[in-house]
Amino acid sequence: MKAPNVGKWSKHQHLAKDAFLQAYLPPTKRFSPAALWEYIENYGDVILKPSGGGGGAGIIKVSSLDGERYQIHAGSLRRVVQGKEAVLHTVRPLFRPKIYLLQPHLSLGRINGRPFDVRVMVQRTRSSQPWQVTGWLAKLAGPGYVVTNVARSRGSVLSLQNAILRSGIPKSPDLLSELRKVALAVASCLGKAYPGLREVGLDVGLDQEGKIWIIEANFRPAISLFQRLPDKTFLHRIKAFRIRK
Ligand SMILES: Nc1ncnc2c1ncn2[C@@H]1O[C@H](COP(=O)(O)OP(=O)(O)O)[C@@H](O)[C@H]1O
Ligand SMILES: [Mg+2]
Repeated sequence: MKAPNVGKWSKHQHLAKDAFLQAYLPPTKRFSPAALWEYIENYGDVILKPSGGGGGAGIIKVSSLDGERYQIHAGSLRRVVQGKEAVLHTVRPLFRPKIYLLQPHLSLGRINGRPFDVRVMVQRTRSSQPWQVTGWLAKLAGPGYVVTNVARSRGSVLSLQNAILRSGIPKSPDLLSELRKVALAVASCLGKAYPGLREVGLDVGLDQEGKIWIIEANFRPAISLFQRLPDKTFLHRIKAFRIRK
């Protein structure tokens, strides 16, 4: 069965109705100039991202500097502009004809100055079967990138345990079990909304305090990320789940 093609905004609205998951969702709004200034005021640094699409395409970071100056960071491009009108002038042409979303820029855990986030694979063989976490890993952004998408940013993957260790994130003994619980709750929530769903590739941020943030739930996750790990245990498990029907 083909996974449904659903935008980030619809998924966010389903997840935001879940009382347990609310605490793990970054504040998210549809883009408008007023919402942009409100988020800049409240959070300083914000992320703009298209509701559709993926692979890190179209993602823009806007940071507030001193004296009405703003830094715009998209792909490997960085530009400092003066004044709010100049920000809108710079970012609007970067928008593809899509719904754009606005979030605070999360200060993700870093390794050698590069941010990383976590991909958690959750699968079920049919809608009557329970969801299971079948693999996880860390995606490290390529040098100079905001996004951790491996192909776009020329980033790399490493084991989750290794990433947490090297990042110096305070590792509570419960972090991994909490991560598992959040991933299963996301899959269960979206699996009810989209009964045909069999796989969720969840992008989760761990911020520098060790807090878990839901970044994105992919319905057509690539297994190529797991092919890059030297240890093939997750890869084999994920493939086995895809075959079993
Ligand atoms: N609010 C955010 N704060 C910090 N980094 C983010 C935020 N949203 C996205 N990112 C970074 O950008 C990457 C791509 O964003 P994501 O929402 O997963 O969209 P895509 O569909 O393009 O993969 C994420 O994996 C993460 O590294
Ligand atoms: Mg993603």
